[in-house]
Amino acid sequence: MTNFRTSVINLDRPGDPSVFGEQTRAAAAELISRYPAGQGRSALLPLLHLVQSEQGYVTPDGIAFCADLLDLTKAQVAAVVTFYTMYKRTPTGEYLVSVCTNTLCGMLGGDEIFAALKEQLGVGNNQTTPDGMVTIEHAECLAACDYAPVLTVNYEFFDNQTIGSARNIVSQLQSGERPMPTRGAPLCSFKQMERQIAGLWDEQALAPDANSSGVPTEAGVKLAIERGDTAPSYSIDTSAPAERTPAAETVKAAPARPAEDEKPARPRPKRTTTRRPSKGQAEQPTSEHDAPLETAESDPANPADPGTEKGD
Ligand code: FES
Repeated sequence: MTNFRTSVINLDRPGDPSVFGEQTRAAAAELISRYPAGQGRSALLPLLHLVQSEQGYVTPDGIAFCADLLDLTKAQVAAVVTFYTMYKRTPTGEYLVSVCTNTLCGMLGGDEIFAALKEQLGVGNNQTTPDGMVTIEHAECLAACDYAPVLTVNYEFFDNQTIGSARNIVSQLQSGERPMPTRGAPLCSFKQMERQIAGLWDEQALAPDANSSGVPTEAGVKLAIERGDTAPSYSIDTSAPAERTPAAETVKAAPARPAEDEKPARPRPKRTTTRRPSKGQAEQPTSEHDAPLETAESDPANPADPGTEKGD
């Protein structure tokens, strides 16, 4: 069994972009046209999903295809592929089962569910069953903590799982059935889903406008409306010199909640921003974690770097 996440992309294999036909090229052209002229490289993410919708994973052919279309090096494309977990490097099954094992789901049984499904499928993390039907992976937070523990099949949600309910879902997938997700659209294949994620209308997409929220999803919003809470502004004064504002001070600035009829105007915490100094400009103080990094020596804009020649 091949591990699709840790396998190494062999850039020595040239890759053959000609395996992608006219229809795929037309779809790629449409995706690229959605970006401003001269910024077509921004289409790399959807193009990689388009490649996966054709081949089930990002092949060397797919890397060469994207590099050719976007005037990037294969190394640059591979760097993106290896950064994001949604890009697979070996064939993915018809159904990708992602089990959340992050904090809340893990505490409520996510790890046990993941272990039970691996045992049922007879494969490990990031592996696919020999019949090519199911790939299983553990996932970081799937942004559905209010339904923990959750799993997704081809990114559709199955909420409030138990070992028994999760086993039942996988049994149905193995027998060729498509169980209905708790929320959202009915299941489709991994390749069909990849086409949708690429941003292309799929004739076979079922109920793309299905409701994806439930009562727990909206509970916080309803409570905020009842309380009359409003969100703070995100406006940032960039003209003021940057200064440190300890998080503790920001928290202290929030008043205890008064009764509705004596509610004073809520003081807004002072926001700060950091600026990167120009040459010769004095260094501005920065927060501990968001100081900008220097551009890498290997930036393609650096003509002195021979390592970014096209075709690397
Ligand atoms: S921790 Fe599982 S969805 Fe957030």
